[in-house]
Amino acid sequence: MSEPRVLICGSIAFDTIMVFEDRFRNHILPEKTHMLNVAFTVLEMRREFGGCAGNIGYNLKLLGGAPVVMASIGDDGQPYRARLAGFGIDDAHVRTMPGTFTAQAFITTDLDDNQITAFHPGAMGLSHRIGVGEAAAVRLGIIAPDGRDGMLAHAAQLHAAGIPFIFDPGQAMPLFNGDELRRLVDWADYLAVNDYEGELLQERTGMSRAELAGKVKAMIVTLGADGSRIVAGEEAYEIPAVRPKDVVDPTGCGDAYRAGLLYGIAHGWDWLRTGRLASLLGSIKVEHRGGQNHHFDRASVAARYRDAFGAALW
Ligand SMILES: Nc1ncnc2c1ncn2[C@@H]1O[C@H](COP(=O)(O)OP(=O)(O)OP(=O)(O)O)[C@@H](O)[C@H]1O
Ligand SMILES: [Mg+2]
Repeated sequence: MSEPRVLICGSIAFDTIMVFEDRFRNHILPEKTHMLNVAFTVLEMRREFGGCAGNIGYNLKLLGGAPVVMASIGDDGQPYRARLAGFGIDDAHVRTMPGTFTAQAFITTDLDDNQITAFHPGAMGLSHRIGVGEAAAVRLGIIAPDGRDGMLAHAAQLHAAGIPFIFDPGQAMPLFNGDELRRLVDWADYLAVNDYEGELLQERTGMSRAELAGKVKAMIVTLGADGSRIVAGEEAYEIPAVRPKDVVDPTGCGDAYRAGLLYGIAHGWDWLRTGRLASLLGSIKVEHRGGQNHHFDRASVAARYRDAFGAALW
């Protein structure tokens, strides 16, 4: 059987992270913030490949899956496209929007772990110009955080095409009103949120967790180091977290987890195996800085899965 193709709709972004070896509070005086003009010299700087679609696609490819990434990039996006292609990820639906920058975040952190971030959405805001119809023959999809119009359009298109998908509103949740969120949940077959996003979704839709779960085949709520919970019909599964070797950086754990979900769903696995794989990927990710600096292959994942759960993965 050929590997089922999975459409990953979401953002592609560069994250530039700079570390200020001092404390912002030594340089920002509360009584002077009406004329703020500060420059921080940052000696440590790194640039990461990020964005939800990029992260999810990366993890799904490492698993041996067949991700089809659908995202918009700017004129500066060529290194990202080359990276995807280098991994053998289908980038035919990664579209360059001329005259724009790829979405990017500039994050400055200080010694107290405070952060000052500037985020430029750039090409991401034009993702609605790409259509799901262009991506033929996919078994499953995910609507991950992206431009608002793109998320609405792509969800509608997947629904119309009868392609099941996970709705993953993430940090894009505030872009939608209650009516829109109810419609997106109606269209979706699966819903994946973290605990905080779950609360926000309840508030905005006016629906309880049980009502939301009743709208989809499965509602997945992640709880960071406390694991995750999957409610599918009458069944509820408590998925334990897998103890990582080291906790380095939680950025992108949700995306790694979603790659596990997509793999399990696309292969028709039961929720226990699917959730456990997802949980393991989140744990592997947390051991490394950034969303795409961890590595694994099918053999090493299977070995860690056996260690954690005492069962065979594949
Ligand atoms: N410290 C940790 N130890 C073990 N597993 C973890 C840890 N942090 C995250 N995970 C795994 O990854 C999953 C997703 O993490 P989390 O709930 O933090 O997602 P998130 O809030 O969407 O994160 P982000 O948006 O930053 O990627 C968790 O359900 C868990 O299985
Ligand atoms: Mg998240």
